[in-house]
Amino acid sequence: MSLITVLAPAENRPLFFLRCADSAYVCGVHPSGALCHLHWGKSIAPDASLAARLDADAVAFSPEYRRNGAVNSKAGLDVLRYEYPTANTGDFREPAVDVLHADGTRGLRLVYAAHRVLPGKPALAGLPATYVESPDEAETLEIDLRDASDSDGKDVAGVVVTLSYTVFAGRDVVVRSARIANRGAAPVTLTRALSVSIDFASGRHDLLTLPGAWARERWVERAPLRSGAQWIGSRRGASSHQSHPFFVLLSPGADETRGEARGFSLVYSGNHHGGAEIDQLFQARAVLGIQPDGFAWRLAPGEAFQTPEAVLAFSAAGLGGMSAQYHRLYRERLVRGAWRDRERPILINNWEATYFNFTADKLASIAKAAGELGIELFVLDDGWFGKRNDDTSSLGDWFVDTRKLPAGIGDVGRRIQAEGLRFGLWFEPEMISPDSELYRAHPDWCLHIPGRARTEGRNQLVLDFSRAEVVDTIFERVAKILREAPVSYMKWDMNRHLTEVGSAALPAERQGEVFHRHILGVYAFAERLVTEFPELLIEGCSGGGGRYDPGMLHYTPQFWCSDNTDAIARLRIQHGTSLVYPPCTMGAHVSEVPNHQLHRTTPMKTRAHVALAGQFGFELDLTKLAAEDLAAAREFTEQAKSTRHLLRHGDFHRLLDPHEGNTAAWMFVSPDRAEAVVTVVLALADPNWRLPALKLRGLDPATTYRCVHGPAGEWRGDVLMELGLPLDGLHCDFESLRWHLKRV
Ligand code: GLA
Repeated sequence: MSLITVLAPAENRPLFFLRCADSAYVCGVHPSGALCHLHWGKSIAPDASLAARLDADAVAFSPEYRRNGAVNSKAGLDVLRYEYPTANTGDFREPAVDVLHADGTRGLRLVYAAHRVLPGKPALAGLPATYVESPDEAETLEIDLRDASDSDGKDVAGVVVTLSYTVFAGRDVVVRSARIANRGAAPVTLTRALSVSIDFASGRHDLLTLPGAWARERWVERAPLRSGAQWIGSRRGASSHQSHPFFVLLSPGADETRGEARGFSLVYSGNHHGGAEIDQLFQARAVLGIQPDGFAWRLAPGEAFQTPEAVLAFSAAGLGGMSAQYHRLYRERLVRGAWRDRERPILINNWEATYFNFTADKLASIAKAAGELGIELFVLDDGWFGKRNDDTSSLGDWFVDTRKLPAGIGDVGRRIQAEGLRFGLWFEPEMISPDSELYRAHPDWCLHIPGRARTEGRNQLVLDFSRAEVVDTIFERVAKILREAPVSYMKWDMNRHLTEVGSAALPAERQGEVFHRHILGVYAFAERLVTEFPELLIEGCSGGGGRYDPGMLHYTPQFWCSDNTDAIARLRIQHGTSLVYPPCTMGAHVSEVPNHQLHRTTPMKTRAHVALAGQFGFELDLTKLAAEDLAAAREFTEQAKSTRHLLRHGDFHRLLDPHEGNTAAWMFVSPDRAEAVVTVVLALADPNWRLPALKLRGLDPATTYRCVHGPAGEWRGDVLMELGLPLDGLHCDFESLRWHLKRV
């Protein structure tokens, strides 16, 4: 049976049924010609009688649907449940798309024109996207909507919107995007082009979002929807620490394992806009896409605009079930390249060990100590290029600083390799320091507006990646280092947001395109990088986890989760991040104490246990560690190696939420359920209190598990899941326990 079924209960009014693993998505054409939403939730069978449910009765002050001059339907245009709503033609809620026509008027009336069902999933030109490896993994429905005077009427402006829906076999995921084409004779300006909009008949949902700040990324917030709009968004030119391009609608009372969760995740790294609006009938409209503020895209006749895609995941088993859908899809069909399925190296990064102050000998001494512990990759962070001894200069000058590293970067790499480690290097490709050779040669290569001050952030400006020659030059400089030195890993950083967003290379009428063109340039750079260096492991970074989004993950299989390396602060950050991203994409390091961000002192064991929940590494000066801490570091490196297959391929379960109490807990289970790792961290102890046993998930009830590492014990799976794992031994602030369980 195919994944997409199209029924035609009335002429030219098809009903579309999209079948997911345990869920369904249904939409169809209303008598007005509008494409309307019917269902996204638990599975239902294709049923032609559902066509009658597309209508929504007009209420007072509803603009009416008329055909040939007569009121032809009881439908109110401002309460219909649309799939891609427009403005200025009857609906007053948040539009998904809007156009400024050549005559200065705005608005579209989109009616159904045609559809196609395609095997597999077509690529999105120039944009990162989920993908298939063979056409039988998915099916894609494309629906063309044209801008007409009414359902039978002639085309008004020649704008055609093609909505794309992909469903994957065996997954509870629908991927949506839109392509807007100008097939008319005059240019139009797109002022809004979101990726998805869905109108739900009921507004009874909680909205869960992941707001944050530098060093406090992706905390979880949840509140019931109420009348009016509740938006998230970024105008920073990056997905950002402050807002995250992801939200969930939850049925009231839904929790980690129960209730309905509908996730919306945008595969995009620039400005976003999303959230939900409750209308006069308490219906909910959820939208997600490119931020309309600062966006105006000119479409000349014959041109088309492709939106990024939004990944929608459904689960009737709560947030945990929804996260499992995202984890599997993003691990298997968003991340790409040689490192997608490989276990990743355990690394040491010199940033918190030395900051800008290092010599080749110093780096080699850290690498030597790391090699002795079994660490596999040494990352040289910021400060190796130009004349960069602090953050006031040299971005753009990607030439080794021979005063600091006289024998060159290749020599550093070879010395690291001689200690038995791979070598990695930090770059910040999109940035330019006013104090740089590059800026002196090309002062107009940064984003700027003539006549206005160029606002700096961390003493730097942003290169104009909407210009191909800028991307080319930076790529060649970065690639030259990667070609000549033995570099097998790159940390790709991005340390400020965009201001004075204008391009010296674009005409006045295209300045509204700069935000998006800049991001397309970032993706073009990434594409060239992964194409020329397919074996390079890239870790994304943006002042920590500021641009940790599905767009970047397509090219960078792991991301530095946060500059905050404090183990206790990381609990919330990693918990929130795990709602949508698999832990194998999260860079997590053991750093020194007192912690550099929070000045808190936590035990080495706890720091390691928290870092073992992600791509494990160290970020401290190993040469200064006491013998006892060195022994512990060796031990945790061994644990990371012996359990990293679970991180890579296992199922992740959040057991205790650090936002809700003093304790956090999580676990990984191997796909065959023969093995698991469980971690518990007590943030703050309470007096006269005993922690209840921790109920595990995802095990085989009939299997007996033995603890091969951690507190001794042997238990059956059903006992561990129903009665729980006894938490003896957790009494003090910042203590943790970690069990590695294996089938007896
Ligand atoms: C950012 C990163 C850090 C480090 C510094 C270097 O803040 O998040 O990990 O690389 O830049 O300047």
